[in-house]
Amino acid sequence: MNDFSNMNVLICDDSIANALILTKLVEDEVGANVITLTDPRKIKPTLVEQSIDLMLLDLEMPHINGFEVMESVRKTYKPDQLPVIIITGLAGKLTRNRALTHGANDFLNKPIDQIEVELRVKNLLKIRKSYILHKRSNEQLEKKIQQRTIELNQSIKGLLSSLARAGELKDNETGKHVIRVGKFARIIADGYGLPSNIAKMIELTAPLHDIGKIGIPDNILLKPGKLNEQERKIMNKHTSYANLIIGEHDSPLIQMAKSIAMSHHECWDGSGYPNKLQEESIPIEGRITAIADVFDALTSNRPYKVAWPFDEAVHYIKDQSNKSFDPSLVVVFMNNLLDIEEVSKQLAD
Ligand SMILES: [Fe+2]
Ligand SMILES: [Fe+2]
Repeated sequence: MNDFSNMNVLICDDSIANALILTKLVEDEVGANVITLTDPRKIKPTLVEQSIDLMLLDLEMPHINGFEVMESVRKTYKPDQLPVIIITGLAGKLTRNRALTHGANDFLNKPIDQIEVELRVKNLLKIRKSYILHKRSNEQLEKKIQQRTIELNQSIKGLLSSLARAGELKDNETGKHVIRVGKFARIIADGYGLPSNIAKMIELTAPLHDIGKIGIPDNILLKPGKLNEQERKIMNKHTSYANLIIGEHDSPLIQMAKSIAMSHHECWDGSGYPNKLQEESIPIEGRITAIADVFDALTSNRPYKVAWPFDEAVHYIKDQSNKSFDPSLVVVFMNNLLDIEEVSKQLAD
């Protein structure tokens, strides 16, 4: 901690004799590197060229006095980043207070006292050194945290897709259905102007929209024909089961998955389920996934029905604007039909 050979001290005093005495003192007694200036106008360019750990600054100088130097230096460097010791023959509280308010870290009195210089310079260099160490370890810590966050997100994504596959094994909807729903939802989210990280989250979590179906008995879930009223009621519970299955989590990705699973059957006009939410009170991720899910269900073959032609399904979505679906999202959907069709073709069953 007392080795200052890596540290640079800038000394500026218009008196060459003073400057040289200080230089020799700092070099010999402190062991730091010294850059010596007698013209304060050279301070700024020197700071740009070199990293300086401490500046010893004379107050009474021609061209620019110490106060002016301090004022301009402190616009760029905080006292931690560039400590400054003011050298002053102007005794008195007023001068000292003024220097302090201009951001000086410490003072030296003229005439120069060898011990005083050595102690004050070493003191500030020690603080500067621990500041650098602290900053470096903070940066390393931050990097580690970032790395961990990435790893954690990877694990969460992995778990979410496992969960999605578990749902598919029970359901008669194919694996490609859920991927297409994710892609359609992404297109709508992007087109709507959601921030791209949120659109990406919707793409990743929309495939879990029907995860609650794990809780639906097979005789209802896999029934080839139309469900009767009683069976339909049970089937509709898959939205609430999602809450049970996913539960409470801190991860925004998991929260998003739950929100979509719970709200993808709500309707814009309030006629949906489970909570009969209306318009903007339906989460945007649910409103988006609703369109993506219905559109893909219509254009897919199911054991109980054949796929609708693309244009008919588009017509249905348009027709349900303001009824099942958010009208502004229907507009986005209609404006992005080329991309929707591309996904349909690329990920066809
Ligand atoms: Fe569903
Ligand atoms: Fe679905």
